[in-house]
Amino acid sequence: MSSESDPREPKYYLVKRHLLELIDTLPPGSLVPTERLLTAELGTSRTTVRQALGELVGEGRLVRRQGSGTYVAEPKITWPLRMTSFTDQAAATGHSAATQLLESVREKASEDIAGKLSIRAGAATYCIERLRLVDDTPMAVETSYLSAARFPGLIKQLRKTASLYRVLSEVYGCQPVEAEETIETAAASPREAELLHTDTGAPMLVLGRHSFDADGKPIEWVRSWYRGDRYVFVAKLSGR
Ligand code: GLP
Repeated sequence: MSSESDPREPKYYLVKRHLLELIDTLPPGSLVPTERLLTAELGTSRTTVRQALGELVGEGRLVRRQGSGTYVAEPKITWPLRMTSFTDQAAATGHSAATQLLESVREKASEDIAGKLSIRAGAATYCIERLRLVDDTPMAVETSYLSAARFPGLIKQLRKTASLYRVLSEVYGCQPVEAEETIETAAASPREAELLHTDTGAPMLVLGRHSFDADGKPIEWVRSWYRGDRYVFVAKLSGR
């Protein structure tokens, strides 16, 4: 372990820096030394080693496999932020996408959702929760709200066709052309953790998309919980 340390640097961070140096020399899938070995090798406590390993797991640099060990993680998925659908985005980046409809209900719009969809509070909306998989691995849980009056029979359509944007275009002649997207962090709830095969409290990236048609009418309000350890979101910025 590098002896150069800032006295204000927490002890676990020194262990983390040591592990980062080690990770950089190893290919994805390599086994890293056990907690016990690192504790002995670095002359520190097990709690300190555990904290460093835990952070690196949360950041997607290491993965823990129950009863097997801790390994160097595969590179993250790079996902451009574009006005496309999940299904098309996966195809465009060379991945396969799959979708599982988890829940779909017709319910009364809250003040908040009504405001987002420009409908009156209490009007009918569809709340659709879907599990999104990339290359057969669960990656995101997505909850979408759309006006039921504007898209009658939407749930039935989504049982036949996995892509919401395809259904909107082919069945309702509606295309999202503009959106505002927000990104924030959250800790995985027990349910999200179970669905996404991660731990409760694992870091998630929560994207909110509010999309509009060519006339500026809102189409959907969506919140997507992505695995924060597996995704890099890329936004292209231009000064032109
Ligand atoms: C992304 C967006 C969602 C949108 C979805 C449509 O995941 N964040 O706002 O609803 O794409 O994807 P698909 O057409 O594959 O259902």
